Amino acid sequence: MPDANPFLDPLRFGRRVSPCSLVIFGANGDLAKRKLLPALYRIHYEGRLPPSFAVIGNSRTEMTDAQFREKMRESVSRFLEDSPFEAGVWDSFAQNLFYVAGDLADPGFYARLAAKLEAVEVSHRTAGNVLFYLSTQPSYYAVAVHGLGVAGLHRGDGWRRLVVEKPFGHDLGSARELDRKIHDVFPEPEIYRIDHYLGKETVQNILAFRFGNGIFEPLWNRRYITYVQITAAESIGVEGRGAYYQEAGTLRDMIQNHLLQVMATVGMEPSNVFQADAVRDERAKFLRSIRALKPGEVDRYAVAGQYGPSRAGGAETPGFRQETGVDPEAQTDTFAAVTFFVDNWRWAGVPFYVRSGKRMPKRVTDVAIQFNSAPHSLFAGNGEDERLSARPNLLIMRIQPEEGISLRFMSKYPGSGMRLRPVSMDFSYGSSFGTRTPTAYETLLVDALSGDATLYTRQDMVEASWRAVQPILEVWENRRFDFPNYTAGTWGPKEADDMLARQGHFWRVP
Ligand code: BG6
Repeated sequence: MPDANPFLDPLRFGRRVSPCSLVIFGANGDLAKRKLLPALYRIHYEGRLPPSFAVIGNSRTEMTDAQFREKMRESVSRFLEDSPFEAGVWDSFAQNLFYVAGDLADPGFYARLAAKLEAVEVSHRTAGNVLFYLSTQPSYYAVAVHGLGVAGLHRGDGWRRLVVEKPFGHDLGSARELDRKIHDVFPEPEIYRIDHYLGKETVQNILAFRFGNGIFEPLWNRRYITYVQITAAESIGVEGRGAYYQEAGTLRDMIQNHLLQVMATVGMEPSNVFQADAVRDERAKFLRSIRALKPGEVDRYAVAGQYGPSRAGGAETPGFRQETGVDPEAQTDTFAAVTFFVDNWRWAGVPFYVRSGKRMPKRVTDVAIQFNSAPHSLFAGNGEDERLSARPNLLIMRIQPEEGISLRFMSKYPGSGMRLRPVSMDFSYGSSFGTRTPTAYETLLVDALSGDATLYTRQDMVEASWRAVQPILEVWENRRFDFPNYTAGTWGPKEADDMLARQGHFWRVP
């Protein structure tokens, strides 16, 4: 169902995009089909795209504008997550879609792109503003930026911006190298490094929760918090991305970027204003405070896993090494768990346990804040089971699905005597706001098109995140793991449980 009348809600829909063109490199790829085009369609549906707007798709495949439109129509109607596909709305949107085939290494391609940009500037009055979106294989990022620079497309009558998809580099060295090449062409204020987790409503809401309320922040530190747990579990495997995933692994694919950004959102200091650089300065400061492990500490504080086949419930699930495009000896981590420490006054000594994996029992991402237990248990000693009657307070921020927040606290069980049981206070997005939540890509595309970089990462943040995982990558690179070490459909290898048990803690089952 469409929302009642989204245009009446100036808070959610106040931001509108100025006239411009959006060039998508890799427009025939998975990300464009599953995320970017559905997001653009939805923004158009909400009336937030101006009539003076054009999308120019590129990939190597030869296609006419009409064929490109048809292909995108199929993708959008298939991948639109939680809103209706309306043929009339699509038709008006599709008028703005164009296509230029070409190899990014071929200088002739940029001349054709320039001609198309000029044509839409006249036909669609895009005012010479252009956002370039790198959604190709990462090995083409530097090639495309160089090509744009040589052709002079990085400058023009209006503004020019560049969105760079993750992964930004393969390690610290290659991230710096890529950054240098991009800076040869685009200045920092024009570079938008995307981490779509920062665009999720529930991740943004961590800031609202912490800094829009008076009662939580005083408790948000080492004096009251025992540990923080961040879990991003996926039930799917590598879904046809075996070749990419085999080179990446979970530590690079999820932790270095998405989960460290979530962790920074949980742990950063408040900025004095909510503006791009003020917020990003605080995030960067936090990321720089994450302690880099010494090589000798890696085995104690980091665990790699890889799923093996499962036959649970009669259904055969292949192991990672049996997936298409994957080396049968692959040493890739499809699960990673790390204990991070943050060396600053707020967090000294508080472990941040972060884990992510493919083929876990369910899809769930959440942040759990475990508070210290009551200092003295008044109600103990009446024969009660301690595990039920003396549980520490736990705050759970559910990033997805079932978006919301809950706080566990102890309450008196009805009846005579003083028996305590944990109960919880719950906030759920669905029932509190009763409105559709925009996808991360909708939010981030509108932001980049409007020139707001608050939810985009900066080079110093990217480098600090690589620095935090680099020692682990290096130790794992030279290791032969005894993989597989967990069965598809389970919560990961036993070593991940052992890592917490050594601190007297355990992973929650989300
Ligand atoms: C991507 C990773 O960045 O994030 C994928 O490359 C992963 O492997 C995805 O599945 C998860 O995103 P979300 O929004 O579905 O949690």
